[in-house]
Amino acid sequence: MTKREILVTSALPYANGPIHLGHMLEHIQSDIWVRAMRMAGHSVHYVCADDAHGSAIMLRAEKEGIAPKALIDGVWKEHSSALRDFGVAYDHYSSTHTEANRELTARIWQALKAGDHTESRPVKQLYDPVKAMFLPDRYIKGECPKCHSKDQYGDGCEVCGTAYSPADLIEPYSVVSGARPELRESTHFFVKLADFETMLKGWLVQRRDAGGLQAEVVNKLQEWFADGLRSWDVSRDAPYFGFEIPGEPGKFFYVWVDAPVGYLAAFKELCESGRKADLRADDFERFLRADTGTEMVHFIGKDIIYFHTLFWPAMLHGAGLRTPSAVNVHGFLTVNGAKMSKSRGTFIEARTYLNHLDADYLRYYFASQLGPTLADVDLDMKAFEERVNSHLVGKWINIASRTAGFVHRFFGGRLAAQGCFSQKEEDILLHIFKRRSQIAALYEERDFAEVTRQFVLAADYVNSYIADAAPWVLAKDDSKRSELHRVCTFAISAFQLLTVMIKPLVPVIAKKAEDFLGMETSSFFAISDAMYNREIRQFEPIATRIDIDKIEAMIEASKENLQPNAAIAPPSPQPSPAGGRGGNADAAAAESAQSPPLTISIDDFAKMDLRIATVLQCEFVDGSDKLLRFVLDAGELGQRQIFSGIRAAYTEPEKLVGRKVVFIANLAPRKMRFGISEGMILSAGSGGSDLHLLDADAGAKAGMPVK
Ligand code: MSP
Ligand code: ZN
Repeated sequence: MTKREILVTSALPYANGPIHLGHMLEHIQSDIWVRAMRMAGHSVHYVCADDAHGSAIMLRAEKEGIAPKALIDGVWKEHSSALRDFGVAYDHYSSTHTEANRELTARIWQALKAGDHTESRPVKQLYDPVKAMFLPDRYIKGECPKCHSKDQYGDGCEVCGTAYSPADLIEPYSVVSGARPELRESTHFFVKLADFETMLKGWLVQRRDAGGLQAEVVNKLQEWFADGLRSWDVSRDAPYFGFEIPGEPGKFFYVWVDAPVGYLAAFKELCESGRKADLRADDFERFLRADTGTEMVHFIGKDIIYFHTLFWPAMLHGAGLRTPSAVNVHGFLTVNGAKMSKSRGTFIEARTYLNHLDADYLRYYFASQLGPTLADVDLDMKAFEERVNSHLVGKWINIASRTAGFVHRFFGGRLAAQGCFSQKEEDILLHIFKRRSQIAALYEERDFAEVTRQFVLAADYVNSYIADAAPWVLAKDDSKRSELHRVCTFAISAFQLLTVMIKPLVPVIAKKAEDFLGMETSSFFAISDAMYNREIRQFEPIATRIDIDKIEAMIEASKENLQPNAAIAPPSPQPSPAGGRGGNADAAAAESAQSPPLTISIDDFAKMDLRIATVLQCEFVDGSDKLLRFVLDAGELGQRQIFSGIRAAYTEPEKLVGRKVVFIANLAPRKMRFGISEGMILSAGSGGSDLHLLDADAGAKAGMPVK
């Protein structure tokens, strides 16, 4: 085998929201691949970063009243720790807002300019005269020109599906200020993508044949070629949070320029850090060259194919640098068969998951659903529970837990000597051992679902043998000691082989299993007769069954993450449909950055039953770090219990007793883990500790309607 040198990346998460389980699908997929490629003997460098630039981040920071740098630093801490706690072991997790990235972006830009691959020309674009900024498409809303639905985004209608440009909207308004946008002209910079058409077509064929592009991706690319490649607009006018274009004051690189360069900048920092034995500072330039046999492999979701298979290779090639070896694309995560939804509690943040369940469970489940295609992956909670309990605990861990006790009780914790096995046992072990090349190949092809299938088949084979051999029966008969020793040694040996097979999937549990075995295996190809005569530790539970209550608690906690104003907030960010030219930096991010000034009719307002109430009780809720429990006196409506997510803002709840609040009385009651919540109390502010209850003047009495 030749040892390959591979730089592996995952798409850089935007620094304006939490890492959620959709992101985790990608990070887990790439982490498993990296671990497996290392176990196959290759030298792998694994980097990622936060994608810290763009309008969405600028506007969100402004809304929170902090500098963008403070926002992205805070988010970076959350992102990097969530990823680490999921066992995603990046060699370096950086940010696009670094000097290394600024320099590298400038270098690539200069080279593109020198090669005459850039141009500039005036562009007409919608401008917010109040906010004094050009508006990204997603920050303009208005009436759909086709079906006349109100409040549709500037890039397309969510009701009738028509795609259009923001200038086509009827009665457009700026989501940032509510002002009517004006068409204004400004000079933009472009990369002449058509210059690279021949090169890209060659790259496509070559990568396809080398297995670096999936068939579905190749088809998409061919469609795009048929449409013709238009120049790519790579500049944005100030105000913008990003890198200023060298020599062009007031013009900034569009976030999608410096984002992929961020892969390389992160790698450069890693090379220069001296942190990895198999990497030196000058390896960076070597990896940038096209002719050195190193590989660059990207993992991405299907919404950002265009950026990674057209713009990115064109930019690299135009700058005289190497192109990607592979762009591995995955589908989207759905939960319980539907788009992730905040109100259903299925928009699950990585941290919320980790507060309730072990990372390895989700890693295993995702793996069992992941193949090398663009198919979406569903996190079905029932299947999740069943699969983890049956495969990991029932079929795998049980092999050790059922036999280790006998080894300690009768044989001083030591396994039997070489030559002990029966023919049948020998056959089973050899059968599993011989699969190791096939398993390594399945990992390389990213067919993790097939890995788990092979694992289950092998485990079933072992378990049915153990069931027949019935060590628990042998243990009752003094004359069967050596047979018992043999069967237990067989079981523990099989357990070791199965552990190696799924080690990349469940690193934490596998580590515990290896501690129990007293050995560590870092290669798929390690020889396995190390088990003879081996002393094993006392068996302690390596993994326990998932308790369905924990899944429910996680879902409830995800509902709690709702902002108090969630009822009128826009839908959760979801990537645009497969292969669209979407993946717009602002698209996924826009929603969390602003609250749109929706217009409603007086009838809409009349539907809301707002009332004054007096707080009778207010207290902390056991098991929740977000909620306070209120009991309100609502006058003619009687008493109401309401759970409100304002704990961070009111640390002495008892002090609220007696004061007046405003609440929505006719909100559908909601069942929460702690009881039923019968309404919602209004408060002002952006969330967290920045929330302030509304008050009423002295004449207002409990139960009075607010109009
Ligand atoms: N910042 C850009 C990527 C720049 S790469 C040079 C971006 N960020 S993102 O946060 O919106 O998405 C990051 C990755 O997560 C993308 O590959 C995206 O496809 C993936 N996913 C985001 N939501 C997802 C699901 N619900 N399911 C699966 N993957 C999803 O795009
Ligand atoms: Zn429409």
